[in-house]
Amino acid sequence: MRSNPLAYLDAELNALREQGLFRPLRVLDGEQAAHTSIDHRSVVNLSSNNYLGFTSHPRLRERALEALTSLGVGTGSVRTIAGTMQIHMELERRLAAFKHTEATVVFQSGFAANAGTVAAILGRDDVIVSDELNHASIIDGARLSRATIKVFPHRDAGAARKILQEIPKGQRALLITDGVFSMDGDLGALPELCDLADEFGCIMMVDDAHASGVFGAQGRGTVDHFGLHGRVDVQVGTLSKALGALGGYVAGSRSLIEFLYRRARPFLFSTSHPPSVAATCLAALDVLETEPQWMERLWQNTRFFKAGLGALGFNTGTSESPITPVIVGESSRAVRLSDRLFEEGVFAQGITFPTVARDKARVRTIVTASHTQAELQFALDAFRKVGIELGII
Ligand SMILES: Cc1ncc(COP(=O)(O)O)c(C=O)c1O
Repeated sequence: MRSNPLAYLDAELNALREQGLFRPLRVLDGEQAAHTSIDHRSVVNLSSNNYLGFTSHPRLRERALEALTSLGVGTGSVRTIAGTMQIHMELERRLAAFKHTEATVVFQSGFAANAGTVAAILGRDDVIVSDELNHASIIDGARLSRATIKVFPHRDAGAARKILQEIPKGQRALLITDGVFSMDGDLGALPELCDLADEFGCIMMVDDAHASGVFGAQGRGTVDHFGLHGRVDVQVGTLSKALGALGGYVAGSRSLIEFLYRRARPFLFSTSHPPSVAATCLAALDVLETEPQWMERLWQNTRFFKAGLGALGFNTGTSESPITPVIVGESSRAVRLSDRLFEEGVFAQGITFPTVARDKARVRTIVTASHTQAELQFALDAFRKVGIELGII
């Protein structure tokens, strides 16, 4: 009989089990919502990126259904062959107007946008100067590009400057940061990095996945939030989080976009979005521009919940966004906290090494516009009960 060449995977999985880090997938019984049923338990959901509650917004649902009926369920091709519909072009034009840039290109996900772009615009002779906590998609894109990767300590523009000083004049460099860091909720050092990019003549890129729909006027992102229009060459945004659907985009100059159309491998070699996804995103932009109440509620809820966690005495790090980590140290502690919260009716995912540093395991909370204050208070009460029980507060 043939021996199993994948047996080593079982050994690795068993090691995870022994460390208590083998987490089952949590399964939603219905649609994504602030209060929902997960694994047949009714919970206040503090783990989605559905910041504005758009996954179930009636206008988005309607537009998706219209597109399904009139344009079908799929495109049957990659964008560069027969998979570009008028609705894809309309979405790119609309996003460019929204971001105040010349053009945009939509990818199948934010991950594909980051990885595809970094790998396309840099090559083996170039240097990438990257914040140590940048998203995995940036790291993968950097590796694929074969450029030299230099990492600076989190948000430390002084350290980034030292790296840039050592790069020979004339060598191409990309300076890159997340706009909002997904595990800590803090903001990238974008204004300082833009100054460095100007001084050293680097390409400046920001990944605004968690800032899209959350920061800046009508959710235009951190470039708008910091008043840096025209100073960031490559802006990545996502359509998968606050915008409620799926996809990522790159906003920048017309030349950048024309280049990515021809060189970004996920764009070239993977089928385009179903028209219903593009229609959903167009509706999301309409709603962002006409219904300010969702962002207002998101920020009200963010202030309420952060203040509540802080008052209970949890270590919530340095977050400035709706993402608030509850940092507890060891992985097993974070897992225990998350599991006990779940039993008490609150879903807040435990985040452990290697996603975060070994001694900085946490439970990550994300509030949305759809949470009621009663739901958030219920969650705070559960945090208090379990926090005391586990000796965290
Ligand atoms: C910082 C950051 N960038 C990019 C992405 C990828 O976005 P998407 O989910 O649209 O692929 C994520 C999603 O987890 C993220 O947190």
